[in-house]
Amino acid sequence: MKYARIVGTGSYLPERVMTNADIERLVDTSDSWIRERTGIRERRIAAEGETTCDLAEKAARRALKAAGVAPREIDLIVVGTTTADQIFPSTACLLQARLGIHGPAAFDVQAVCTGFVYALGVADQFVRTGAATTVLVIGAETMSRIIDWQDRDTCVLFGDGAGAVVLKADSKPGILSTHLHADGKHADLLQVPGGISGGYEDGRDPYLRMRGKEVFKVATTTLSRIVDETLETNGLSREDVDWLIPHQANNRIIAAIGRKLGLPEERVVNTVAEHGNTSAASVPLALDTAVRDGRIQPGELLLLEAFGGGFTWGSALVRY
Ligand code: UT7
Repeated sequence: MKYARIVGTGSYLPERVMTNADIERLVDTSDSWIRERTGIRERRIAAEGETTCDLAEKAARRALKAAGVAPREIDLIVVGTTTADQIFPSTACLLQARLGIHGPAAFDVQAVCTGFVYALGVADQFVRTGAATTVLVIGAETMSRIIDWQDRDTCVLFGDGAGAVVLKADSKPGILSTHLHADGKHADLLQVPGGISGGYEDGRDPYLRMRGKEVFKVATTTLSRIVDETLETNGLSREDVDWLIPHQANNRIIAAIGRKLGLPEERVVNTVAEHGNTSAASVPLALDTAVRDGRIQPGELLLLEAFGGGFTWGSALVRY
């Protein structure tokens, strides 16, 4: 039996910090509202001209270094992003060229905030079947580019960043299971209406729009269900989980899932205050943060979960 093991993590945040006070100057909001309703204090914003691939490359190089893996050993790149640099080539192909890798498959996965968990699930299947042995999996976003900075319903929530892991095939677990889901019927609750195939001049809104309250309800119940599904599949109980590494959208959703698992707050990796919602980057950013500060130790059991536009949602149970 082959498993995919996480052998290195890395992340990168743009330098510019945007605080709640900075946002108070843009829209009718307040630091106390943002902190109370979301937990967010600040977020990072990519510099002018700094792209998703720029962030992905920095995170990837850090993950490769941590893993002690050279770019030429990588035989698959999967990037979760909804803010690609170009319509094509994919961000994964742009990144592959920068890393000097030639030949192995490289592609993007578009599942919005679930993008990294989807990318991890896809990469896991490649490793389990023997189709790949050393994989770079990335979640990277420049959400600031699809935010309407006049819309207080959304502009207080999102940030930019990237996180990466290197997976290696191993006879020891590893990723125990991944669970990927989608239900397109809720598209109107969370979307960027503008697109490509309607034509550039079709006048559709190019910015992220969300009916937050409704998304909140679906996210909380759906993530609660996927926690059960993940544990049941593996014949494990909530006491077996050492760390929850959740999508960082809202403190209240994170706390609800932590309570569901019976985990004390200090066993839930929470970076929402400093990162905001970085969409596909949020889970790998949180993972790398807790690996690098020494909280997550080898052999521990990690539950990763995310929910986002589509709707998409997913989880991964990982023996670190
Ligand atoms: O990553 C993908 C998944 N995304 C999520 O999971 C996000 C899910 N949704 C949420 O996190 C929350 O719904 C929000 C943080 C977006 C909103 O929090 P809420 O507690 O659901 O607030 P609300 O939309 O019910 O609004 C409450 C009040 C309203 O005023 P009234 O009607 O009570 O007078 C809003 O107009 O807060 C007002 N409000 C604001 N006030 C200050 C809404 N946005 C803001 C704002 N600043 N930015």
